[in-house]
Amino acid sequence: ASSGSGSSAKVLKVGSSIDFAPFEFQDEGQKEYQGFDMDLIRAIGKEMGYEVEVQNIGFDGLIPALQAKNIDVIISGMTINDERKQNVSFSDPYYQSGLTMVVRSDEQAIKSFQDLKGHKVAVQIGTTSVEAVKKLGGVEVKELNTPADCFMELKGHGVDAVVNDRPVNDYYITKSGETGVKALEEKLTAEDYGIALAKDNTELQSKINEALKKLKENGEYDKIYAKWFGG
Ligand code: ARG
Repeated sequence: ASSGSGSSAKVLKVGSSIDFAPFEFQDEGQKEYQGFDMDLIRAIGKEMGYEVEVQNIGFDGLIPALQAKNIDVIISGMTINDERKQNVSFSDPYYQSGLTMVVRSDEQAIKSFQDLKGHKVAVQIGTTSVEAVKKLGGVEVKELNTPADCFMELKGHGVDAVVNDRPVNDYYITKSGETGVKALEEKLTAEDYGIALAKDNTELQSKINEALKKLKENGEYDKIYAKWFGG
């Protein structure tokens, strides 16, 4: 935000990995970032009296950027977990998610996570999918930069499955009109998304939690939810 003489809008610097529709993505020819997270953080910023500025940062660079104080918060479909809590603090959960997998439509061998043994699986680098798939044992894990890269690898037969967040897999399959691949129902994990902020910045944390609570009470959260996930 440029501040003219004296006027100084408070700016909330937000980092997000803009590769995760319907949470954060950019449509061709549009310069505004879109998605559930983008609408939510703009509404939270407004509630807090802050102007929101979003920087596109690769998912595995988000926590380092927060620690370097280049950004104030992360909203990026980021799962709250203990490992991350050693380095950052989180808001209250704002979305319930979990991991599912996508395979080619004609896949016969892989019907459940147990079938992944001996197969190659693509996951986005730095995400909860990496550890979850490694834990299965006997799976060759390919860590790629974005979910789009993972789906491309699947279609090109470089891997036999993609493990990624359920709402993103579902959106990819329904919205992209993609026919060569399908998402399986089985869930590998249940995960909650939170907004990350500098460890122990309890002041910012409570401001964000208050704003989130307000948006849940006044119906704004439900509106944003319905816009991206249906009523
Ligand atoms: N929920 C997963 C995690 O926290 C994946 C998040 C990926 N987000 C993104 N914008 N690419 O690790």
